[in-house]
This record gives sequence, structure tokens and C-alpha cells, in this order.
Amino acid sequence: MLLDTYGRVATDLRVSLTDRCNLRCTYCMPEEGLQWLAKPELLTDDEIVRLVRIAVTELGVTEVRFTGGEPLLRPGLTGIVARCAELEPRPRMSLTTNGIGLERTAAALRDAGLDRVNVSLDTLSAETFQRMTRRKRHADVLRGLAAAREAGLTPVKVNAVLMPGFNDQEAPDLLAWALEEDYELRFIEQMPLDAQHGWQRDGMITAGDILQSLRTRFTLTAEGEDERGSAPAERWLVDGGPQRVGVIASVTRPFCRACDRTRLTADGQVRTCLFATEESDLRGAMRAGAEDAEIADSWRKAMWGKKAGAGIDDPSFVQPQRPMSAIGG
Ligand code: 5AD
Ligand code: SF4
Repeated sequence: MLLDTYGRVATDLRVSLTDRCNLRCTYCMPEEGLQWLAKPELLTDDEIVRLVRIAVTELGVTEVRFTGGEPLLRPGLTGIVARCAELEPRPRMSLTTNGIGLERTAAALRDAGLDRVNVSLDTLSAETFQRMTRRKRHADVLRGLAAAREAGLTPVKVNAVLMPGFNDQEAPDLLAWALEEDYELRFIEQMPLDAQHGWQRDGMITAGDILQSLRTRFTLTAEGEDERGSAPAERWLVDGGPQRVGVIASVTRPFCRACDRTRLTADGQVRTCLFATEESDLRGAMRAGAEDAEIADSWRKAMWGKKAGAGIDDPSFVQPQRPMSAIGG
């Protein structure tokens, strides 16, 4: 098991497959100038499958989420999913993607064994999308989403980040659209994980703001704590249900006490938390010829050192060096 000193058990593994992306979302990356990991630093497909195998067969991981950067940019993605689907016990597998290219790959990913996708989409306006992501790809994302739904990668979840001066008025429109399209919408509070270190607590739109805005058009009924479990999203039934909307309030209502996550960066470092300031190098151990049991031990040791919480809202909070795109969302 991946146990920590607060009694939490990590069963949910997030694997970043690349730090690169074909968008430049303002809350994530600068327009240009971000340094990418060099190819030899990245885990190979074999190394990724090996670490997932160790996590699943020796460490009790039951859920694997592939992230990035943009994971669809990883050439070996479908093969990695297919090989992980053969593990015993078979992990549940999902993908967090910006949706670009999903139109072409959704069916193959489902056939390889992928269960679900989370697609990031912050706006229904092509023009706002271009301002927020600095790329003209809105239509690609909408087509990717539809393809995922048709391929049965369901429930398709949509992640939206609200940014002042861009899409802060759009929450009710996004929800109306998601209900119509049968996507499960989740709003994520903007976190201090941008490469530029430009996040400001004062500027961000909070869960409270989002709920207030949604309630101008919808009736929201809170789901019980029991149903939430370790999921970061708090969920509300919309207009009596059964459809729901979620809010991931990492800043104003952190959920660290129930956290069940462990993370692997694209260059093979274990992170206990998005906001951890320390990493443990599994790539180095693997490349030095470590046995599975040694790697499992290093992973356990890393998780044992997991901190109680990130404390983003605390004045002493220090943003991690690596941006979200290098850690994995
Ligand atoms: N704050 C909140 N969410 C973010 N994401 C990326 N950067 C941030 C940030 N700074 C979102 C993406 C994607 C998911 C992985 O996290 O939009 O949906
Ligand atoms: Fe790419 Fe996701 Fe970062 Fe946007 S948030 S630039 S889609 S990695």
C-alpha cells in the first residue's frame, strides 16, 4: 500500500506522459519560452508501463489517469493504454486532455481499454477560447468531445477554469450547454501552478462566486459527503437531477484530508501532491538497474513523507517550481 503518516492510502495514480502541449492556456503556460524536457529525460513507453505495473500489482493502485501537458501528443499513448489494460488486477483508466485530436483517436483509445476522458474546455466562444489558449482550436475541442461521447468514453467530464476578464460570466451558459450535450461539467478554481508564477489570490474566481452565478439560473442541491468520497469535486444536483455539476475548490475548500493520489511526472519523479516541493526519482533507480521491489520501496517511502495539505490559502504558501504542465493535472 501507499500509506502516509496521516493514514491516507493512495490508490489513484496520475501519470504525466509529456510536458508539451498544443495550447498555451494563460493560467498554465507563457506565450513562449517555456523549456521542455529533453527526450532522454522522458520515461520511455516501457518504463511507464513498468511503473504502472508496479503501482497496480504491488502498491494497491486501482485507478490510472494519464495526463500531460497534452497526453494525446504522446505517440505511444494507445499502446501504453493497451498494455496497462492487460495488468492484473486491471486498473480503471482515464485521460485528461484538451480534446484536440480526440476526434481521430477516441475509438482506438476505447478499444485499447480506456474507460473515460476529462476534457478541458473553458468557454463556448471561439473568440474567447483563442484569447485564453492563444490558439484557434475551439472547433477541434468540440469535435473531440463529441467523438469521446460517441465512442462511449463516458461519463465525459468537462473541466472549466474561470478567469476574470475572459470567461467569468460564462458559468451558467457552460452548464446549460453541458446539460444539453450530456457532459458532466466541473469548474476548477484557478490554482497557483502557472509557469509564469502570475497567480494572485485576489484575482481568482472562487467556488462561492461560481455557485452564486450558477444559482441565478439553476437550482442546485448539494450531494452528501458520503457520495464525494475522495473525489476532489463537490457535486450538486442541477434542477433536482439526475444531472450534476461539480466544483473543485482546491484553494478555498481544500480536500487534502481525503486525498488518495500519487503522481508520476513525465521524467519519472514521484510527487506526493501537485503542490509538493520535493520529488523522488524513480527513473534514476530504474536506469541504474533497480529491481521492482526496490522501486516499490522508494515509492512507499516517498508517499510516507506526504504532507498534510497544500495550504494554498495560507500566507506561507510557496508555489512549486514546476508548472502544472510538467507535473500532470
Ligand atoms: N489552475 C486550475 N486548473 C488548471 N488546469 C491547468 N492549469 C490550471 C491551474 N493553474 C486545468 C486544466 C485541465 C486540468 C488538468 O487542470 O484546464 O482541465
Ligand atoms: Fe495545455 Fe492543459 Fe496547459 Fe492548456 S492547461 S496549455 S491545454 S497543458
